[in-house]
Amino acid sequence: MPKLRLGVLASGSGSNLQAIIDNIESGNLPCEIAVVISDKPDAFALKRVERHGIKTEAVQSKTFQNREGFDTELVKILNSYNVDLVVLAGFMRVVTGVLISAFPMRIMNIHPALLPSFPGLHVQEKALEYGAKFSGCTVHFVDEGVDTGPIIIQAVVPVLDDDTEETLSARILKEEHRIYPYAIRLFAEGRLEVKGRRVIVKDHPKDEGAMENPQVLPK
Ligand code: GRF
Repeated sequence: MPKLRLGVLASGSGSNLQAIIDNIESGNLPCEIAVVISDKPDAFALKRVERHGIKTEAVQSKTFQNREGFDTELVKILNSYNVDLVVLAGFMRVVTGVLISAFPMRIMNIHPALLPSFPGLHVQEKALEYGAKFSGCTVHFVDEGVDTGPIIIQAVVPVLDDDTEETLSARILKEEHRIYPYAIRLFAEGRLEVKGRRVIVKDHPKDEGAMENPQVLPK
């Protein structure tokens, strides 16, 4: 069976992208990365993939009149690489209906909070300021809202009294690296069924553990 072809969009450091690559290379993720596209030509995400022989493209938004024009170019590139699933990995742009209608329920995003709490930016800081005792991360399908699409899986992370934005972000990022490849694997295995807002994971053995992970607080 041909492997699922991923098109990864990244603007920054690409540590989630690295986690996906590591899972593919260790045989845990039956996919291949067809292309990595960045809106920032100097993104570290692009440098990371060079040594893995993965194709890269840089598309700068300033060369387009509007967001739709930019997304039309993304769709063109993604289709030219026969991408099956679009993976947003630290992609710092709001996508438009142009991309969403080209890949309906075939665009995933990872968000560093437990949606629907704290959508948008700087959410680790917002969770701290709010006084939340738990935060975490969410993998969801992308719709036209900001961080509003159907939730696929989440991981819970405790917020500790002495946390700073940095320490909380690092604890959440560790979970991101665990659940994002897992969510992609569920998609690749045809185990995600979208029913309205709910995403049902078919044949989910309890010991896979990515969804039922409220972590035990340190003693
Ligand atoms: C992650 O926290 C992700 O959830 C958010 O941006 C950050 C990107 O990290 N959307 P990286 O580029 O994958 O290292």
